Amino acid sequence: MMSNQDLDSLKKAAALTAVEFVHDGMVVGLGTGSTAKHMVIALGEKVRAGMTLRGVPTSMETATLARQQGITLIDADNAWVIDVAIDGADQVDPGFNLIKGGGGALLKEKIVAASAKQFIVLVDQTKRVPVLGGSFPLPIEVIPFGWGSTAREIEALTKSRVVLRERNGAPFKTEAGNMIVDVHLARIDQPRELEIALNHIPGVVETGLFVGRTDLLIVGTANGVETYPATRT
Ligand code: A5P
Repeated sequence: MMSNQDLDSLKKAAALTAVEFVHDGMVVGLGTGSTAKHMVIALGEKVRAGMTLRGVPTSMETATLARQQGITLIDADNAWVIDVAIDGADQVDPGFNLIKGGGGALLKEKIVAASAKQFIVLVDQTKRVPVLGGSFPLPIEVIPFGWGSTAREIEALTKSRVVLRERNGAPFKTEAGNMIVDVHLARIDQPRELEIALNHIPGVVETGLFVGRTDLLIVGTANGVETYPATRT
């Protein structure tokens, strides 16, 4: 069993490999979470060493860290062209499909990943799973209006337990002012079909399923960093 400190050093090693894919002048999508944090700090070091780059943050938390690191940010309203987006994930399956949204930033993360020319995913070895689901519930961002009936429709579709995410005894609010429900699916055998069906339910804003979006997977393992090129599908 690995300690949190060991895991953190695997995340950091993966992040240091990822930033090698960032070159002078690029616009970089900056992910959210404890793995992405190492990447933002490593990019800050590159900026201080003279590299020019601009970042598109996927959360306020990442924006704050990036500013502290001296990284220039692009306004959300600008028509950006993102060269590479780099982000963590909660689970990765053998087809490089992901569950994301453990931190609640899935909406901006998905918009940024979708618009980037290249999407690099960073994980420690514990995130790789034979099939998505099981140990990690699927986060879904829903509109507050009528969220109870949206949750019931999700429950009927997935035949799984749907739990409203809370923080400090109140519903968790996303940066877009929405709610998150976590769906406890035993296994997700058909992620693409599930993503489409969920996005069809009125009130669903976006799901934490990232299907066929990964271009490169970087895994921090106890034996070193492994990289796996993937094909968008
Ligand atoms: C944030 O909403 C998530 O999608 C994160 O990218 C994901 O939860 C991975 O986070 P860690 O790197 O902290 O595990």
